[in-house]
Amino acid sequence: MPDIKEPIALISDVHANLEALTAVIDDIRGQGVRSVVNLGDTVGYGPDPEACIDLVDAACNVTLCGNHDYAVLYDSEGFNPIAQKAVDYHRHILRPAPVNPDPEAVRRWEWLGNLEPMHERPEFEAMHGSPRQPITEYVLPSDPEMDPMKIADIFSAMSKQIAFVGHTHFPGIIEEDSESFLMLSAIDNHYAIDPQRRAIINIGSVGQPRDRNPKSCYVIFDGVDVTYRRVEYDVERTTQKILANPDVHPASGLRLREGR
Ligand SMILES: [Fe+2]
Repeated sequence: MPDIKEPIALISDVHANLEALTAVIDDIRGQGVRSVVNLGDTVGYGPDPEACIDLVDAACNVTLCGNHDYAVLYDSEGFNPIAQKAVDYHRHILRPAPVNPDPEAVRRWEWLGNLEPMHERPEFEAMHGSPRQPITEYVLPSDPEMDPMKIADIFSAMSKQIAFVGHTHFPGIIEEDSESFLMLSAIDNHYAIDPQRRAIINIGSVGQPRDRNPKSCYVIFDGVDVTYRRVEYDVERTTQKILANPDVHPASGLRLREGR
């Protein structure tokens, strides 16, 4: 019998977009994949934080803490006005009332508070931001060329062959000692792990893609190959929900149409 590892799906940056999350979970099931790791930012930006927490809680084996999850719990200092508006709104609707709290609200708040910053398996590590600062640091597509020292430092903080990250909402791959960022168009949505070369793999965003492709993005990893999948969902439905909600910034919805 060949040694075939059970594939896993990795998702990130759901951002309270229930239509996108539902479509991605359906796609994962359609691929026959049973194990799902979520790299965080389940909340923030979008209109459906409660439903997304519930679906992620049911569908994902591991969920990590992103900077928006952290900001909803504790502090949104430093966020731009678009992000801050949704974070403050999500905190308002998710935080249990001090007296006679709704048990469902308590369950969701505790779930949010128990998210870990990192997940490790023998063949990879995973976090929202970077191996150096798991919750907050951006590993930007421009970094390999513009800030190679930063990338070298980040690789030196890595303990595994591969690091899966999210956070920028821009999918692609940085190989060690390379000055280029491999975009999905350059790799045809598919990356074979090179055992001789470490890599930081940004898996893109389910609920707020920003690579000019409005389809949700996630990956399937079988221990050898990383396959990016782009999934269509009802963008207009989510956009209209956001535009109808005065507590969510309209830009969080309008950008979904173009994936920017
Ligand atoms: Fe995010």
